[in-house]
Amino acid sequence: MSFKIALVGCGGMGRRHAHGYIELRKYFDIVSMAAVCDLHADVAATVADEIGDATGDRPDIYTDFDEMLATADLDGVAIVTSTPMHHIFAIKAMEAGLNVIIEKPMGLTLKACRLMRHASRSTGKVMAVAENYRRDPMNRLTRALIDAGAIGTPYFALDINVGSSDSAVMHSTVWRAKKEQAGGMPLDAGVHNADMLLYLLGRADSVFAETSTFEPNRILRPMSEVAPGLADMYNHRKEDGYSTGDMVEQTAVDSAFGVIRFSSGAIGQLMMTDSSHGQSLDVSTISGSGGTMYRPRSRSGESPRIVRNDGSEITGDALLDLVPDFQLDDITSTLWNGARRISSYDIDFRDIDSKILAYEYLDMVDAAESGGQPEVGPQEGMDALALAYALMESGVDGAPVSVEDVAEGRTSTFQDEIDYEMGI
Ligand SMILES: NC(=O)c1ccc[n+]([C@@H]2O[C@H](COP(=O)([O-])OP(=O)(O)OC[C@H]3O[C@@H](n4cnc5c(N)ncnc54)[C@H](O)[C@@H]3O)[C@@H](O)[C@H]2O)c1
Repeated sequence: MSFKIALVGCGGMGRRHAHGYIELRKYFDIVSMAAVCDLHADVAATVADEIGDATGDRPDIYTDFDEMLATADLDGVAIVTSTPMHHIFAIKAMEAGLNVIIEKPMGLTLKACRLMRHASRSTGKVMAVAENYRRDPMNRLTRALIDAGAIGTPYFALDINVGSSDSAVMHSTVWRAKKEQAGGMPLDAGVHNADMLLYLLGRADSVFAETSTFEPNRILRPMSEVAPGLADMYNHRKEDGYSTGDMVEQTAVDSAFGVIRFSSGAIGQLMMTDSSHGQSLDVSTISGSGGTMYRPRSRSGESPRIVRNDGSEITGDALLDLVPDFQLDDITSTLWNGARRISSYDIDFRDIDSKILAYEYLDMVDAAESGGQPEVGPQEGMDALALAYALMESGVDGAPVSVEDVAEGRTSTFQDEIDYEMGI
């Protein structure tokens, strides 16, 4: 094992990273988790114990990032704190000579991201974004099918995520209710949708959107009610200053309805809300001149489906005939039990999640050791966040916005207040 890494932020997603690392160690002897860091020593200890029990090597525990940087012997850090700390820790780490893998969204705002991009360029250190959806083998297959022309020329995409949190705080994490902490389902979850749309359809030029915070009065409910499938990953985390049942003021946007124009000429409709009482609607399709692609839910293992104008349907292994060159890369194949050409898979969500995280770590280490770029680096991380924030910016401007203007800071009305509060 040569590459020593520290995990910073050991809450819900941090614990999932620990499981990803444990999965990685089952197949590869390349990365060593030398330290874990969280503001709460007991939160960090839970994660350190799980790593120690599974691998025999318990990471050292820190509660102070700066102290860890000064004393631990590291090659890289995985930054999985709540989003406001992303740019602060990433820049410090790169300036200290470490490579970085960071959770999505890459940064709090695009200004924070530009500072991170500059730090990566000036230090030559890797800044990889752990954007996980695209790494799902079924999303790789979907992309291969679109690239091969299986639905002809893509005309438009529908990405509709309409559901109800029943006025609960998203993921039972108070920071997700706060605008100044990059909260709100359309942003915190929407950056995944944005990345997938860009991954499948290419660059986005402009966005027009309407946004709202329909439900500012939220309740902190237990994760077992809010997201039962992830509850056991969040049961150790601490919520300073709040208890279950407390009212929480949501300042973040909870509903965003956007229309996107892609550089290819395709149109996208991205709808995100967790304030839909009595209606739940999930649609992820791309329609083209030769049919409609029904995208599988990320990390479900389900096969994509193509439906033609005459109603005929292609799914499962028949899809593979349309992409004779499609095969999973070596790392994904190893993690997916040797699979090369698959059209679906049946693996427990927890294991899928861990396998994708293992892939992301290896992608970062490979970039660090080869001097190359990770699959999702500063540019891709910023592109996805710029698209998600473009909905917010258009929502306050009441006019279409250029996604590039959002990325490069020429359009920033919505984010200015956040940057001001963060002092950047
Ligand atoms: N890729 C995905 O599917 C996915 C899913 C969930 C979360 N995330 C991302 O992961 C990040 C963390 O989300 P979460 O749900 O785990 O939140 P969380 O609140 O459960 O965990 C954040 C942890 O960071 C710690 N932390 C905060 N400030 C710190 C500091 N200064 N020093 C050390 N530790 C500090 C907190 O104590 C907490 O334990 C967010 O950026 C979120 O958007 C990604």
